[in-house]
Amino acid sequence: MTPPVEERLPTADARPVPTALVGRQTVLRPYTAGFTEAELERLYRWACDADLVQLTSGMPLDVSFEAFKAMFEASAARHSASRDALFAILRADGGLIGRAGLFGVDRQDGSAELGVVIGDRRAWNRGLGREVAALLVRHAFDTLGRDTVTLRTYPDNVRARRAFAAAGFRVVGERRRFTLDRGLHTEVEMRVRRGDVPPSASTAGDPRRFPPA
Ligand SMILES: CC(C)(COP(=O)(O)OP(=O)(O)OC[C@H]1O[C@@H](n2cnc3c(N)ncnc32)[C@H](O)[C@@H]1OP(=O)(O)O)[C@@H](O)C(=O)NCCC(=O)NCCS
Repeated sequence: MTPPVEERLPTADARPVPTALVGRQTVLRPYTAGFTEAELERLYRWACDADLVQLTSGMPLDVSFEAFKAMFEASAARHSASRDALFAILRADGGLIGRAGLFGVDRQDGSAELGVVIGDRRAWNRGLGREVAALLVRHAFDTLGRDTVTLRTYPDNVRARRAFAAAGFRVVGERRRFTLDRGLHTEVEMRVRRGDVPPSASTAGDPRRFPPA
């Protein structure tokens, strides 16, 4: 299995450079590299998009951009890198298309939970989601020492299920849950174990394709 190409990324304000995960079509830039104002505006639009948010078990935001920015920056400051590994998803040309992360990477049982949201609908169905999932899974196993990565999605989110299946995830169960936005509903649990990643999920990219900041 080829490990993901990792590369040093310059940050907007020249702080110490974190490591990015580089795939063929996407680059995962750690949250610690920061966000430009234009990127924050995109995140804000997606956070207010009710159709998008309902795919990820959340409530759409109904606050101003300034309020969003304050909330986002405060939560980023509280964020613990030892617990969660959060990334902005960039296209190979550098444009922000979404965000993704591994949660609970400090769990004693060797597990972690994966989440991916490609907010830019124009980027759907082009194989980017499966690449992002595969990059994160490899990062979880090879760098963070995880043994399993799990995610939850909705039975009718076929796009997500197929993309995650292509990255090696298998359905391991269903459960009933109650949330304020969805009420009582069913969630599908998918999991990939170390050693289960199919060769077709290879993501190694050419670092030279990553554009200068
Ligand atoms: C889910 C998500 C990450 C997938 O990323 P993506 O880049 O769109 O997915 P991919 O292109 O890698 O794969 C999409 C697959 O779904 C299939 N698909 C898409 N729409 C479909 C439909 N209506 N019926 C059947 N299959 C469909 C595609 O054909 C492709 O499968 P295949 O290559 O095996 O044929 C992305 O669409 C997204 O972020 N969506 C919004 C938020 C979300 O749902 N997040 C997941 C929450 S758990």
